[in-house]
Order: sequence, then structure tokens, then C-alpha cells
Amino acid sequence: MKQNLTIALSKGRILKETLPLLAAAGIEPAEDIFSSRKLIFDTNHDNIKLVVIRATDVPTYVEYGGADMGVAGKDVLLEHGGEGLYEPIDLEIAKCKLMVAGMKDAPSVNGRMKVATKFVNVTRDYFARKGQQVDIIKLYGAMELAPIMGLADRIVDIVDTGNTLRANGLEPMEHIADISSRLVVGQASLKMKHRQIQPILDLLDTAIAARRAEVNG
Ligand code: ATP
Ligand code: PRP
Repeated sequence: MKQNLTIALSKGRILKETLPLLAAAGIEPAEDIFSSRKLIFDTNHDNIKLVVIRATDVPTYVEYGGADMGVAGKDVLLEHGGEGLYEPIDLEIAKCKLMVAGMKDAPSVNGRMKVATKFVNVTRDYFARKGQQVDIIKLYGAMELAPIMGLADRIVDIVDTGNTLRANGLEPMEHIADISSRLVVGQASLKMKHRQIQPILDLLDTAIAARRAEVNG
């Protein structure tokens, strides 16, 4: 008998790119996710449901078994820590970088540097590995504003085109990690539902390889 399977998707910018990959794995929502206020969606499979939640909540749902698998940015996974999760597939979407940035031509900081970010754990680990003690200021968005307002000397944030930094008089300074979205599977779910999950992973792998071949000509 087929067991129920729940897949957690990040709402926001990666949802649009996630749905075609799921479709390639034969999974399609039964209705338009974007025009609905629902949080849980039926699919073309009786036993598979999709939940659409905040990006930062995806690893938590999968870790505790509230969902069996999910899609989340590597930035979110690094910040979460990855406990209880397997990360079998790089979906190669929403590629960007996690970087330290500051005001253009800002001088080096004497004494303890103030760093504003929503990635508190990643930031603490990054500077600790460099042997640098910093004060971390937790923000929930618009990190670029913090150095302008004198709240912080540096920020740690996502950089893609660099347009947001440039538009605010900032520049990238140090590279922390390359980011893309990943498929995560709960360790307990993979054990209990391996026969159902493995074929989905195989189809996703095939779809990603095909797309890569297309892009590389
Ligand atoms: P929330 O609004 O729930 O706090 P968020 O604003 O981080 O989360 P999104 O903006 O939808 O959520 O971003 C989702 C993921 O997309 C991020 O975790 C990151 O991996 C990736 N991402 C964010 N910004 C960019 C960007 N400018 N270019 C490419 N990928 C990005
Ligand atoms: C993200 C990120 C940066 C920006 C970087 O913000 O927080 O501000 O993208 O992209 P760029 O280098 O191409 O300018 P997003 O647009 O997701 O807004 P958010 O503040 O809601 O996260």
C-alpha cells in the first residue's frame, strides 16, 4: 500500500522554479498554487500532498516529520544546521552567493566589528573560523540599510547580480558560500518511505541532468 507523502515547498521566489521540476518527477498540484490562499494542496497523486510555507520553515517541517521532503535554499539549510535532514539533490535553481558586504571603500574596522544579518548562525561560524570576534545584529530584511544608517559595519546577505548592493552604495567584500536550492528529505522519512521517495529522487536527477545538458548545449 502507498503511504502518504508530504512535500514542503518554499513560497516566494523559488516556488515558480520548483514546480516544473516537480512536474518532471510526475507531481503536479491539483489547482493553481499562486491564486489560492490554501496552505496545503492535493496533487495528481492521491497519496502526495504539497504544503507551501515560508522558506525558513521548510527544514524545520522536514526535520520533525511534519513533511517528508522539501525544497529550500542552501542559505536557509546552512542557517538551520541540517539536523535530521538528508540533502540528496542540488536542484540548481535560485543560484546566488552568501557574502559579507559593506559600504564602498569602507575602511577596515578597529576593534569588534558589528555585522547585521538574518543569517546569525552562518555569520557566527564564518567569523569564528577566521578567528575574528564580531557582534551580530539580527535583522529580518533590508540588511543593506544597516551600514548606511550606522547600525552595522558589515552585512552578511545574499548577492546575485549585485544590483541591490550597488544601488545602496555597498560592495561585496568576502565570499562565504555558493548557494542554490536543494531537495531535502527527512532521515526518518527516507527510512520509512524509501520505496516511494527513491523513484521521485531518480526522476528529479534525470530532469536536472537534462536541463543542464540543454543549458550547456
Ligand atoms: P522569507 O521572506 O520567508 O523570510 P526569503 O525572503 O529569504 O524568505 P525568498 O526571497 O523567496 O525568501 O528567497 C528564497 C530563496 O531564494 C533564498 O533562501 C535563497 O536561497 C534564494 N535567493 C534569495 N535571493 C536571491 C536572489 N537575489 N537571487 C537568486 N536567489 C535568491
Ligand atoms: C535578495 C537579497 C538581496 C537581493 C540580492 O532580496 O536579500 O537583497 O536579493 O540580489 P541582487 O544581488 O541581484 O540585487 P529579495 O529580492 O529576495 O528581497 P527580500 O529582502 O524580500 O529577501
